[in-house]
Amino acid sequence: MTVTPVRPTKPVAAYIGGKMQLAKHVSARISAVAHQTYVEPFVGMGGIFFRRAEQPKCEVINDISGDVVTLFRILQRHYPQFLEVLKFQLTSRSEFERLVKIDPDTLTDLERAARFIYLQRTAFGGKVEGRNFGVDLRGARFDLSKVVPLLEDVHERLSGVIIERLPYADCIKRYDRAETLFYLDPPYWACEDYYGKDVFTAEDFQKLADQLRAIKGRFLLSINDTPQIREIFAGFDLEEVSLNYTMNATRQKAAKELIISN
Ligand SMILES: C[S@@+](CC[C@H](N)C(=O)[O-])C[C@H]1O[C@@H](n2cnc3c(N)ncnc32)[C@H](O)[C@@H]1O
Repeated sequence: MTVTPVRPTKPVAAYIGGKMQLAKHVSARISAVAHQTYVEPFVGMGGIFFRRAEQPKCEVINDISGDVVTLFRILQRHYPQFLEVLKFQLTSRSEFERLVKIDPDTLTDLERAARFIYLQRTAFGGKVEGRNFGVDLRGARFDLSKVVPLLEDVHERLSGVIIERLPYADCIKRYDRAETLFYLDPPYWACEDYYGKDVFTAEDFQKLADQLRAIKGRFLLSINDTPQIREIFAGFDLEEVSLNYTMNATRQKAAKELIISN
């Protein structure tokens, strides 16, 4: 037995490209692969990682985003201090606009984590670049009584998890072993700049595919279904999954995704 049961938790905030709809299916695919080390090189808010019901001996989460990694490190190691900082956050458009303008590199790690969670919970559509204040008629989105239980769960779940901030290629190289399983959720094709300029480009899909052809471990990768992606990842197993995206209260858009694996 290489995995043990763990209580699934929820991501602490919305995130563009978060894997809510795919989570069940991807989790089942992950469970079907025996592994001792589980690695997510593009973890984001952890839409798959936190929803898993199983935990192998070694878990690694990685992202190039300083905001994402600082939030998880703070939740893992400075949880009580973080709650103190959050007590003073309100949901107001003026606070949102003040925080959007601040350069996160000028903040302490505690302040940076608080800014990021506040913006992610109040921004429309979980956007990271070009955020707008999202008005939610169901009530303030930064309601501490709702946020704290989520943070508590994530704090507990992160115990013992290795948190890295590496470019994806270095992360794959560092943790590749025969018993490693990678779940990769890169930016979507034609949405490469959703997480900042130049962190990921269209050429990275080819580089990633080439790197994955040579790994010792196993991998699963989720991505939008486009002819270019099919061409770049030709030769791997491709599973098609149909999803419905909500455009607004009355409209839904059908979309096809691929789960690519070796
Ligand atoms: C589609 S999102 C992942 C969403 C995640 N599965 C979730 O449920 O929230 C892609 C992530 O890859 C990260 N990323 C982009 N370029 C990267 C790179 N070169 N190396 C590592 N991470 C990168 C982004 O910061 C972003 O968090």
